[in-house]
Amino acid sequence: MDERELARATEALVSRYRSVAPATAPILASRVHVAAYAAYRMPATHAALAKALGAVADRGLAPRSLLDLGGGTGAAAWAAAGVFESLEAVTVLDQVEDALALGRDLVADATSPALSGATFRQARAGAWPDLEADLVTVSYVLSELDPQQQDALVADAMRRGGAVAVVEPGTPDGYARVLRVRTRLIDAGWTLLGPCPHAAECPLAQGDWCHFAARVNRSAEHRRLKGAELSYEDEKFSWVAAAAPGVAEPLVAEALPGRILRHPLKRKGFVEFQVCRPDGTAGREVISRKAGERYRNARDAEWGDVLP
Ligand SMILES: C[S@@+](CC[C@H](N)C(=O)[O-])C[C@H]1O[C@@H](n2cnc3c(N)ncnc32)[C@H](O)[C@@H]1O
Repeated sequence: MDERELARATEALVSRYRSVAPATAPILASRVHVAAYAAYRMPATHAALAKALGAVADRGLAPRSLLDLGGGTGAAAWAAAGVFESLEAVTVLDQVEDALALGRDLVADATSPALSGATFRQARAGAWPDLEADLVTVSYVLSELDPQQQDALVADAMRRGGAVAVVEPGTPDGYARVLRVRTRLIDAGWTLLGPCPHAAECPLAQGDWCHFAARVNRSAEHRRLKGAELSYEDEKFSWVAAAAPGVAEPLVAEALPGRILRHPLKRKGFVEFQVCRPDGTAGREVISRKAGERYRNARDAEWGDVLP
């Protein structure tokens, strides 16, 4: 494929991701756009999903089946296979056949049987095939839909899944979409698996937004396509995951002690955190050397981790 064409398609994707306006045309409009997506965006969506699903795995979820709605080239399938050893069956649904075809090519030589045996099937939101799975992922899709379609997609995911994970760009509007999904899940009696350590109103809803970062190593091709110099980038993302009544109970017996909301400040003799707390508040926590093992864990803790 011509690299100049790929670079132009990458530029179009970059400006699309910087824009807050809803997409008026499909993002993966041609084979070139799909190839550019796989080279430039998929590593980032994969990194975000790996972090979010990793946190879900830490809460004890061990899905055997995954259904990825609007899954494109299969980033969530790769992330889930990397995180959940339990995974046996994967289905990726998307409207764009070119993205699915590339997804099929990518998993052809995967060592995970769940991945190499994954099904990539064309379908449109609102007309998904009648499938169910232990975990349903909806990753970087909501921004392509109007609010009514977003609600319908989340309802579809909840009907089909024992657990649902939604990931969006870590921008104020991505967070706003995630917050809406969070409310929906809580109102339906689902139990949050993360990132929130509580189901009270989000303490960041006024003037701030809950988001996390995943480090993505850039390949030489990735750097060339984006005209970038750094060997890495940090993908900012917002997410929420929850389990249906009946699925959650054996998993989340213990409340999380807190979620780290910013890069911790590691000083001499203490570490300072901004955290979301189980009582529904957000604020500063300091763990000093006197805390012994907790302090040693605090030195290793990162943005997005559970507070030691
Ligand atoms: C930004 S891509 C995200 C792909 C993948 N989930 C990821 O995280 O890398 C958005 C995907 O949503 C799909 N999509 C958007 N609207 C859709 C619809 N109405 N029905 C089915 N798929 C849709 C697009 O085709 C595209 O593959």
